[in-house]
Amino acid sequence: MRKNIVAGNWKMNKTLQEGMALAAELNEVLKGAAVNCDVVIGTPFIHLASVAAAVDATKIGVAAQNCADKESGAYTGEISAAMVKSTGAAYVILGHSERRAYYGETAAILKTKVELALKNELTPIFCIGEVLAEREAEKHFEVVKEQIEASLFDLSAEDFGKIVLAYEPVWAIGTGKTASSAQAQEMHAFIRQTLVAKFGKEVADNTSILYGGSCNPANAKELFANPDVDGGLIGGASLKVADFKAIIDAF
Ligand code: PGA
Repeated sequence: MRKNIVAGNWKMNKTLQEGMALAAELNEVLKGAAVNCDVVIGTPFIHLASVAAAVDATKIGVAAQNCADKESGAYTGEISAAMVKSTGAAYVILGHSERRAYYGETAAILKTKVELALKNELTPIFCIGEVLAEREAEKHFEVVKEQIEASLFDLSAEDFGKIVLAYEPVWAIGTGKTASSAQAQEMHAFIRQTLVAKFGKEVADNTSILYGGSCNPANAKELFANPDVDGGLIGGASLKVADFKAIIDAF
């Protein structure tokens, strides 16, 4: 059966020293704690190797927040999936709405990134979600379905089975405006149905679908109680260990 996962997305926060302190604090808090989900932290690239070496890998997985759409070569400033893998990271967040909106990441680029991540044995945490205008126009199901189809539907069922999805309505990210528990469940069930139609029930049932967007200690329990919500991708609240731990404890 699918895993429950609480994944932090630190975004562009924390110097190396601050990030190391945050990771060490989380590691300490999880030591000996009974945890009912997988825990992942998505750090900036420069933190990956140090954080991966410092945390207990049996308790905390490490994720990059992006990787290049090229394998290697003359792409100044880029970081390849192979480089991410070599740090000890096991995951890579791909298709975050901030990358789509501010860095022009198209469905085609993301498709290539997913393929390179899988080739390098990284687990993609693939983000999808509509903007407010699309929800208001009642196009949210269509938009999310298109995002999944355009970047992931050329994968084999076997490869798709290695992907984690994160539904993040853009209007809920960093705004304090969470999707209601019912809105989250409705979309997650729709996503799972979309996967059933393409990859079959077994693959769909085994796919973890995380919710992201202003998830916090006060709303995590209700969100995670939904049958199709398999955890969270946590931005702001992942920067404070007490909040992140409280969200982990929602399982
Ligand atoms: P937030 O971010 O929890 O700060 O809303 C979530 C995300 O962007 O992954």
